Amino acid sequence: KQDNDQLIIDAGQKQFGATTCSSCGMVYSADNPEDNFQHTQFHQHLLDSIRFVGWKKERVVAEFWDGKILLVMPDDPKYATKKADDVRRVADNELGFQQVTLSRPTQAKTYLFVNTERMVVGCLVAEPIRQAYRVLEQPDRHKDMTKDDFMERHRAWCCSTVPEQALCGISRIWVFSLARRQGIATRLLDTVRSTFTYGSHLTKEEIAFSDPTPDGKLFATKYCNT
Ligand code: ACO
Ligand code: ZN
Repeated sequence: KQDNDQLIIDAGQKQFGATTCSSCGMVYSADNPEDNFQHTQFHQHLLDSIRFVGWKKERVVAEFWDGKILLVMPDDPKYATKKADDVRRVADNELGFQQVTLSRPTQAKTYLFVNTERMVVGCLVAEPIRQAYRVLEQPDRHKDMTKDDFMERHRAWCCSTVPEQALCGISRIWVFSLARRQGIATRLLDTVRSTFTYGSHLTKEEIAFSDPTPDGKLFATKYCNT
């Protein structure tokens, strides 16, 4: 009798529990028609966006046992810039960015990590900048604040007010959910540092992250301190 009960409970959990799709990474509940529909749509769109068929001319800037990094420039052939845009849209969608345009599209360089299964599993957009505001650790100094300087303090809360020299701004960095924690973001950034400015190697201080997410902050903190 006890065995029967156990069987029923297991079946119930399988049916109603959340499933993670092993190809697109979406977490959804398979028995819910609405969820199923959303998954089918997301799944197809994601796989179409990150599928890489191979190009006539590829600017390979780094090679690894598990993939390679391609650099796409704004003036490259349409097949290359379209793929860069498609992948950037997937990233923007996940980051919750509304606008899909870049601040300076003619100067943006897109780095794509293509794995051995011919999927673009990493994307980094870098733009030239002159200065940046360093993101500060969040100290507890909201105590003696007057209303007047609230706005100013609010800014100081997240960023230093002193602009610092930086040369390369990272406006997007994204790694496919099923390919994280394999050093792909690290390798994308290392490659940016050695290829962004022709003939020179950028230090970690010369690159700046714009508006990092919580994931982005954890990664950037780790990257910049090692
Ligand atoms: N939590 C804690 N530590 C982390 C995390 C995390 N989520 N991600 C990276 N790290 C740290 C770890 O110390 C890691 O080393 P370890 O795996 O040996 O412990 C180290 O950073 C290097 O990580 P990578 O493997 O190189 O990073 P990954 O390829 O997984 O990509 C990224 C990190 C890009 C933040 C990824 O999680 C992602 O795409 N997240 C969603 C999109 C996003 O938030 N992007 C950042 C937006 S900010 C911006 O675009 C400017
Ligand atoms: Zn899926």
